[in-house]
Amino acid sequence: MGGAAMLTVALTGICLWMSTTVADQLSARSSSDDELLCTCKNIKGTCSSDGTCTGFRCFYTIVHGREERGCFQRDHYREQCTTNGIPELYVHCCSQSMCNANSTSPTPVPEPPRFLPVAVPLLVLLLVFVAACGLAMWIRFRRQHHRLANTKDHDVTMLKAPSKADPTYEDIFDEFCTSGSGTGLPYLVQRTMARQISLVECVGKGRYGEVWRGTWMGESVAVKIFSSRDEQSWIRETEIYNTVQLRHDNILGFIASDMTSKNSSTQLWLITHFHELGSLYDFLQYSILDPEQCLKMCLSVACGLVHLHTEIFSCQGKPAIAHRDLKTRNILVKWNGQCCIADLGLAVMHSQTSDFLDVGNNPRVGTKRYMAPEVLDESIRMDVFESYKQTDIWALGLVLWEISRRTVVNGIVEEYRPPFFDMVPSDPSFEEMKKVVCVDQQRPGLHNRLHSHVILSSIAKIMKECWFQSPPARLTALRVRKTLSKLTQDHEYPTEKLKMDV
Ligand SMILES: Nc1ncnc2c1ncn2[C@@H]1O[C@H](COP(=O)(O)OP(=O)(O)O)[C@@H](O)[C@H]1O
Ligand SMILES: [Mg+2]
Repeated sequence: MGGAAMLTVALTGICLWMSTTVADQLSARSSSDDELLCTCKNIKGTCSSDGTCTGFRCFYTIVHGREERGCFQRDHYREQCTTNGIPELYVHCCSQSMCNANSTSPTPVPEPPRFLPVAVPLLVLLLVFVAACGLAMWIRFRRQHHRLANTKDHDVTMLKAPSKADPTYEDIFDEFCTSGSGTGLPYLVQRTMARQISLVECVGKGRYGEVWRGTWMGESVAVKIFSSRDEQSWIRETEIYNTVQLRHDNILGFIASDMTSKNSSTQLWLITHFHELGSLYDFLQYSILDPEQCLKMCLSVACGLVHLHTEIFSCQGKPAIAHRDLKTRNILVKWNGQCCIADLGLAVMHSQTSDFLDVGNNPRVGTKRYMAPEVLDESIRMDVFESYKQTDIWALGLVLWEISRRTVVNGIVEEYRPPFFDMVPSDPSFEEMKKVVCVDQQRPGLHNRLHSHVILSSIAKIMKECWFQSPPARLTALRVRKTLSKLTQDHEYPTEKLKMDV
């Protein structure tokens, strides 16, 4: 309570005391010593049955909004009648018989609220701020909407290059992932982005769902829509991309993952970078390579596999990952002639520090045509992480073989064919593969021309060392990468030297 208020209370008290004292003397003089009869209401225990009481003063009070009428006795009427000024309490005393019967609360003159001078400008400011934000969002929404509508209406293949002001998904990723845990975008951001995508065309249909080209803010993105029976692959890919820092040139770049409910069925989406050239399998159907291009592709696949297989020990580290379904259909071709590894739905993770092997919970199995002998004869040690890496190396050898068939050496190139095309029928059974790979111990044939070229003969040698029957005897991904890097450097050296000489 402020000083002025205290003073008011004190003065009111004194005035009342003086007035009641004068009134006392007057009433003492004017009336007999008989007590007053007063109206009594809302006072427990002291009112008589006819709603009256007797005392030296009649009173009317309002306590916390509740009206009371009754009598004060001679001993303490003074203190009781001078309590005005206390919040939530109003007291009125009088000294005539039944004088409190019709007392009412004084209509309080509403005091202007003290917070008004501060609150009003604040409220105005807040309103202005909200209005400005709303306007900015509306303008932005209109711009995006307009752009998407244009893309759809005119030419779906013509995409607007993102303007400097618009964030690209790379910008958004960098913003979150260089400051945060580094694993991926927050789930809410992922879901928001996913719901801003419009699907444009279906680019792939597999056993497990569809892959679409979509657009987000004018940029192409790939949307993999999982069928509900392959929910475990979605869970696995989402889990791996969200818990592990997998950003690498030769691993398909992850953007977001989303689960929605549409017409009471669940939609599972995985959004990644889009690669227009499609899978390596598709690319090799219609393209031929020269040895340098072949080497570049092989090296890029090896680099991606090394990144997967290697555990990184740092705060933004990663566990070792084995792919378990490496094949040309699960590798994508980028515009720069390099490849990136996709489809982590079957991957397993291992951390040396905790010696924890996370094999996931996916009933799906790898592709039979690419299965290593120990998978086919079921001798693989499923509890040892190294075993899974060794099966990836077997498959890597087959991928290098498919690439090398499409490489022109001495003017000769072979048709595209899948591994073991001449030994098993299309869509081979487990038993058919087992007979060829384990019992007969057959390997894909290598064309003579490969042995006459310095690069291709090295690649052929690598393939053979990826196909040893005994898994530990096979090369590691790191060894393959080093050998291919060395080949690249040796091959680049003459041109580099030439450039320097000029
Ligand atoms: N990011 C992408 N960009 C372009 N095409 C893609 C992309 N991802 C997948 N595809 C196409 O879709 C096919 C299936 O993709 P994949 O991830 O292997 O799905 P699945 O689990 O059904 O095998 C690929 O072989 C490729 O042709
Ligand atoms: Mg696949």
